[in-house]
Amino acid sequence: MSRDALPPGPRSVLPQLVHMRDPFPYMRELAAKYKPPVTVPMLGAPPIVLTWTPEGIRTIFGADPMSFATATNEALSVILGSGSIFLQSGAEHRRTRKLLSPPFHGDRMRAYAALMARAAERWTEKIPRDKVAPVLPIAQGITLDVIVEAIFGEQDPSRVEALHERILAVVAAFNPMIATFKLLQREFGGIGPWARFQARAKSLHEVMLGLIAEKRQKPGDDVLSLLVAARDEDGSALSDREIIEQLLTFVVAGHETTATSVAWALYELHRAPETLAKLREELAQAAREQTPPEALPKLTYLRAVVDETLRMHPPVPIITRKITAPIELEGYSLPAGTFVAAGAYNAHCREETFEAPHAFRPERFVHKTYTPFEYLPYGGGHRRCLGAGFATFELCVVLATVLARASFELAEPKPVEHAFRIGTFGPSTGVRLRRA
Ligand code: HEM
Repeated sequence: MSRDALPPGPRSVLPQLVHMRDPFPYMRELAAKYKPPVTVPMLGAPPIVLTWTPEGIRTIFGADPMSFATATNEALSVILGSGSIFLQSGAEHRRTRKLLSPPFHGDRMRAYAALMARAAERWTEKIPRDKVAPVLPIAQGITLDVIVEAIFGEQDPSRVEALHERILAVVAAFNPMIATFKLLQREFGGIGPWARFQARAKSLHEVMLGLIAEKRQKPGDDVLSLLVAARDEDGSALSDREIIEQLLTFVVAGHETTATSVAWALYELHRAPETLAKLREELAQAAREQTPPEALPKLTYLRAVVDETLRMHPPVPIITRKITAPIELEGYSLPAGTFVAAGAYNAHCREETFEAPHAFRPERFVHKTYTPFEYLPYGGGHRRCLGAGFATFELCVVLATVLARASFELAEPKPVEHAFRIGTFGPSTGVRLRRA
């Protein structure tokens, strides 16, 4: 497709290369230089037409789902399997979404609150006192335990730990090179990165198959039990393989995103003593009233802190789709095959929507609501994050629990930057804190 048919934008991929690890400054640069939509060239891939105005985002999120395909890199199928909802489009995607949605309905969150709080308590106890340490590994421990317990439905402590270890072993053995280059996807006599990855994936799949069999026999209150019981309109169920693919998708989608958000929230709170004091006051009041974990997400200021963290640090800063039918985007006729993206980060930095956008001010979410085209940390339209309610709920419960059990000082002499981490963007240093 001719580049000239697309909106203007930078011609060189050089700035993108320079900012590969942390593209947030580049996105701000684009917003300062260009009126959206802007065509951004990509290295070794087609350009992306990026917009961040509410009108442009409405066009992308509001269009007919059948005219959009997933833009997820197929390489991900190596780790997730080709049936992952991330890789599906059209009618197939709609079917999977219908089957996967019920376990994430708001009223189900109550069942998960207590185990989220327990995981946060357990991991907070592991933070050493009077020592500077990054908080991200603790946050990752919490969010992975929550996935294992709430989603996989494994609650026996030693089996939770074993499953946790196996998941981390697969993630550690995953090397983007083996996903990208098919030539490397060979066993080479049982040695090498592909063989190691396959062996670890197989061992994780075996445990998952065991769990699926258990849930078929004795369903619990977890997401897996609901997936096992889920039926299509024609009465068909998800196969074991499909269930494994979606469970792995939840790990990839829900672990790192939520963990980096916990770390960012603690970072911003400890840079803003008045905000932290205000939050601690609200939490102390809730403790006096013996508020149960499932009611914590109703605390107004806590919820605003979570919303503001995701505004300033969206783990997925741009949300990309491939169009399969021509669309009109802010005066441009884009042909089928074009990649378009909603720039969440730039939308969250628009002065027209958010006054003083680079300041951490949870109050803005107390006094005002924003449309899904102005505030979009969870994407939007027919592909909006399935775990959005779960993640916001978890972030509230985890932050409240960690802050109730520990006090910290920030040990970051310089502003922390964003850095690319397993599919999402998180704090480059892991946010170093000293527990008092
Ligand atoms: C702070 C935490 C999280 C953030 C910021 C986040 C963000 C996102 C974003 C931006 C998308 C793409 C949406 C789009 O294309 O419009 C997405 C998709 C998805 N997320 Fe999340 N997510 C989070 C946590 C979770 C959790 C905890 C789960 C599940 C346990 C989850 C499951 C999914 C799934 C299954 C999809 C694919 C939806 C589809 O393609 O239809 N996410 N998420």
